[in-house]
This record gives sequence, structure tokens and C-alpha cells, in this order.
Amino acid sequence: MPDLVDLRSDTVTRPSEEMRRAMAAADVGDDVYGEDPTVNALEDRVAAMFGMRAALYVPSGTMGNQVAIRLVCPAADELICDADAHIVSYEGGGAAQHGGIQTRTLVADRGLLEVDAVAAQLRFPGYHTVPTRAVAVEQTHNRGGGAVYPLSRLKELRALTTSYGIAFHCDGARIWNAHVASRVSFDEYGALFDTMSVCLSKGLGAPVGSVVLMSDEAMVEPARAIRRRLGGGMRQAGVLAAAGAFALDHNVERLADDHRRAARLAAAVADVAPVTVRVDQVETNIVPLDLSPLEIDAATVAASCRADGVLVSAVGPRRVRLVTHLDVDDAGIERAIGALQRALTTPG
Ligand SMILES: Cc1ncc(COP(=O)(O)O)c(C=O)c1O
Repeated sequence: MPDLVDLRSDTVTRPSEEMRRAMAAADVGDDVYGEDPTVNALEDRVAAMFGMRAALYVPSGTMGNQVAIRLVCPAADELICDADAHIVSYEGGGAAQHGGIQTRTLVADRGLLEVDAVAAQLRFPGYHTVPTRAVAVEQTHNRGGGAVYPLSRLKELRALTTSYGIAFHCDGARIWNAHVASRVSFDEYGALFDTMSVCLSKGLGAPVGSVVLMSDEAMVEPARAIRRRLGGGMRQAGVLAAAGAFALDHNVERLADDHRRAARLAAAVADVAPVTVRVDQVETNIVPLDLSPLEIDAATVAASCRADGVLVSAVGPRRVRLVTHLDVDDAGIERAIGALQRALTTPG
């Protein structure tokens, strides 16, 4: 949709000409046989970045999470995450259907779990209990408005889970944004988790692809088997992995531009409707708007913006989400500001 400024998600980016050239030139083989050199190189590269022992390329972030949580949580046992986590909000109930995993969710401010709240909910093995086997966090947190877990909080959660022999998973779909915002290194993050899923197709701009990272080489074979069972064994996937490698080469540090543009959007919304946005909480590329103090709902704001050529997401009856990304430049942001200011100041 070239004429529109699309702020619905950072998943809407289209591969650039240079990325397409890298894809076309990729050396490929059959990845189900483990013979695609471009996929193998990408897996090795991402594992090394995070200091993890093994990696597996998968088509989507959803499959990345689903493979990973099944590695760390057996069927009929329990995974704890926050109530707004992608794993329980947007993965079609896959944890339950495919993994037989019981999820227990905790309401958490901006989606960021507190160690005391998790500690209070842990359950232990017993003949009639549902033991907690894993805790999952989301970095950055999507429904939490791009919130970044402080490293100290993650370390506390790691210490807690380690002390009880419980696994720790990170849905790191936007770990790149967390790194750019916090300057915490990838290997500092990697050192904390048993499993991670990191996405190449959000802010990094690849059309497809995520990587499951594992702290133990023994996880690779079961991970490949689960991926296969989910239908995610791809053949000459190097054409896709090449886009991921290109994204890692070119699109990580530029996320700072997306963060700057998100801050600009938030400030401009605050100029006309300060009650809808917490400017101080916009840490990365997501700007959540809470319309509840106004006489206007999210669908009306989205429709008004669309009429002005700007797409935003209505993520609840009174919640709007704006996401900046590589296909929206400064001019697009200024256009979006005009549309949003009109939408928020015109009586519904
Ligand atoms: C936090 C988070 N995890 C996982 C995913 C899933 O990624 P995909 O759409 O590639 O399945 C998303 C998608 O937006 C996400 O925001």
C-alpha cells in the first residue's frame, strides 16, 4: 500500500531491492537434510551473537515460540507468562493444542513480570499438582507498548527459575529493539535463557523467518522434530535466510531511527490529547494510545486516520497501537501526526 503510511505493525515492511538481490543470489540446498548453506550460516551466526549453543531457523515467530516452549515444558505441565504475552494472546491456542501445555498467566504492568509475583505462583511436582516447568518473558513487550525488561529484572527471574530448576524462555521477537534501546548486548541476554525465539521479520525487515536459540546442543534434534511436525521443515530456505542475514547486516542499528520516530509521534499526540499517551513510557518503536478518558473509540480513530491515508491498529475498543518501522520515514511520521491530531480532536 505505497500511498498509505502504515503504522499497524512492524511486520508490514517489504524487502528492499538490495535485500531481494541478496535473496536471489543465495546459495541453497535442502534444509530438511540440513544441507542449506545459507540457513546453516544464519543459524550459526545468530547462535554466536547470543552465545547460545544451537539455533534453528523457522518460518515465523509463532513457530519459534511454539517449538521452544515445547522443548522446555512437557505436555500437561505448566508455563507461566504474563496475561498479555503473545504466546497466549496471538498464537491461536497453539501451546494448548499442539503442546498440551497448561499456561498460567499473571497480569503485569506493561507485561513485565515481577519476580515476587512469579515466585508466589510457582507450583511443584506432586501426584495431583500441575508443576511449573517454565517461565516465559517477552522482550520487548508487544501489548505492553514496546516495554523493555530491565536486565536486573531478567536476572532476578533467572535466579528464581534456576533455584527451582525451572526453564526460562524469551519471546525475543523484538530483542533487537531492546538491545538498541538499552545497549544490553545480545550475549548478555542469551546468557539468561534456556530458549529464545528471535524474529527477523519485525523491525529488521526480512519478509519471513525467526530463529530458535537453545542453550543445549541436545535440544536441536527434538527441536527439528517438532518443527517438522508443525510443518515448518522447509527445503531451499536459503533464499529466505539470506534476507535474514541481510537484515542483520543492515537493519539493527537503524532501529534507533524507529525509536526516535515513535517518541516524536508520542510527543505530537500528547500535544493535543495528553491523557491518551505516556510519553515517558515510549521506549522503543511502539506507541500505545489509551482512549478511555476521551469520548471516542479506537475504531473511529482508525477510520478517521485511514481516510487521511494513515493506518493504525485498534487493538481494543479504546486502545490504539502505532508502530514505527523501516518503511515509514520522517515525512510519513509528519503525515501520521496530522492525521492523528485531527482524529483525536474531532468529536466522534
Ligand atoms: C512479541 C511477538 N512474538 C511473536 C510474534 C509472532 O511472529 P509471527 O507473526 O512471525 O508468527 C509476534 C508478532 O508480531 C510478536 O509481536
